[in-house]
Amino acid sequence: MEMAELPEYFRWIDRARTQAAGRIPVRAGLECDWLEGCAPWIGTLEAAYSWDYLIGSVHYLGDWSFDDPKWLGRWADCDLEAVWTHYWKTYGEMAESGLFDILGHSDLIKKFCHVPTGDLDRFYDPVIDRIAASGSVIELNTAGWHKPCAEAYSTPRFLELACSAGIGLVISSDSHAPAEIGRDFARAISLAKAAGYRETVLFEKRQRRFEPLP
Ligand SMILES: [Fe+2]
Repeated sequence: MEMAELPEYFRWIDRARTQAAGRIPVRAGLECDWLEGCAPWIGTLEAAYSWDYLIGSVHYLGDWSFDDPKWLGRWADCDLEAVWTHYWKTYGEMAESGLFDILGHSDLIKKFCHVPTGDLDRFYDPVIDRIAASGSVIELNTAGWHKPCAEAYSTPRFLELACSAGIGLVISSDSHAPAEIGRDFARAISLAKAAGYRETVLFEKRQRRFEPLP
């Protein structure tokens, strides 16, 4: 989205609030790319509107949009261990920035099934500590079930570690079309419970409240 398109986005939110008044609460959120040196820019975005929540996500490693099928070829000659190390280091830096209420699709790096061998806790443990210290929450994002990895973001093991570390959880569908809103939420709730979660987090004006999982 171009900066110039933001006012139109705000109008859409206003219209949705009018249409849904008294029936569905409409929250204003923004998913922000975490790019090197972007913190001042995120501050500008933060001040641009009365957001209910901001999501931070890593979709780029340097100039590589690694989750874009257009750049799948770049996986062919990369060192998986190095890419994963770079990804989780970047994710940890994003958490530590403290700019975001929610940290998006934590293990997006697995989207096209490029996963190193061995125990993945070596990647998860340090980032779990950084997320827990930041106070941001993570999301259980159901879109992953519909990607080549065929697994929600985050993986069950990551959710278990996050729950043990006291990191809050939101459930989201990352919908890119109306029909995808709330997709697989029943399955996500079961997964969250299996990881130890008993409640989810809801945001309004960047304040959180907790709601028991059904
Ligand atoms: Fe995303």
